[in-house]
Amino acid sequence: MLDVSKLVVAYGQSEVLHGLDLHVAPNEIVALMGRNGMGKSTLMRSLMGIIPARSGSVHIGARDITRLKSYERVTEGVAYVPQGRMIFSSMTVEENIETGLIPRGESRVPADLYDLFPVLLEMKNRRGGNLSGGQQQQLAIARALATRPKVLLLDEPTEGIQPSIIREMGRTLKRIRDERGLSIVVSEQVLSFALDIADRVLVIENGDIVHEDLRADVDEAKVAKFLSV
Ligand SMILES: Nc1ncnc2c1ncn2[C@@H]1O[C@H](COP(=O)(O)OP(=O)(O)OP(=O)(O)O)[C@@H](O)[C@H]1O
Ligand SMILES: [Mg+2]
Repeated sequence: MLDVSKLVVAYGQSEVLHGLDLHVAPNEIVALMGRNGMGKSTLMRSLMGIIPARSGSVHIGARDITRLKSYERVTEGVAYVPQGRMIFSSMTVEENIETGLIPRGESRVPADLYDLFPVLLEMKNRRGGNLSGGQQQQLAIARALATRPKVLLLDEPTEGIQPSIIREMGRTLKRIRDERGLSIVVSEQVLSFALDIADRVLVIENGDIVHEDLRADVDEAKVAKFLSV
């Protein structure tokens, strides 16, 4: 579903991704693990078209999206939940979700989104900025899903969120995958969460994928070591 080949991304003179390959199957959840500054957000921003690729390619199915603008990528089925959530704090919950409907030319929030996140229905007229961190994360995911993506990119969704809410988020993400059949790439530093949701675990270090395991074969000690050094 998502095919990234030899992706090179740089900020000015500073190259962060040095020819990264990533293939994600339909229905697959891939966790991208890595310490601070290793390139997780850079990869996500590049996949979303926020930073251009120096070289390499990105495909969604057969479609080459390497040179597309962000809004065009949304129409092609890429959705993104940025690190820090970035919801619109002065807009209501419902208005935040509605921004995700625009690319599809829809105007009503589908009921199935509120089925996934009942708390958002209860709070639909509250301002986004007045929600808790966990609720804002749910809102950011709902807004991304409103675009009806084929590939959902989540950048450190558990950051600053308490353990019980993290477990709930894991259940919700698996439900989203099962019900909607989309592919999910989630960057993480919390190993327990990655192991809870992922079919495959990757480790990124200095912009390169240095380790990869199917969930069933994950060597926890080894992955933990990458994250702790
Ligand atoms: N706008 C920018 N301009 C220049 N360098 C940047 C910029 N954003 C990130 N970098 C650098 O790129 C590298 C990768 O950063 P990135 O934000 O992708 O890491 P990350 O894995 O997401 O880290 P974290 O877990 O802290 O979010 C770091 O060395 C960082 O300093
Ligand atoms: Mg980051």
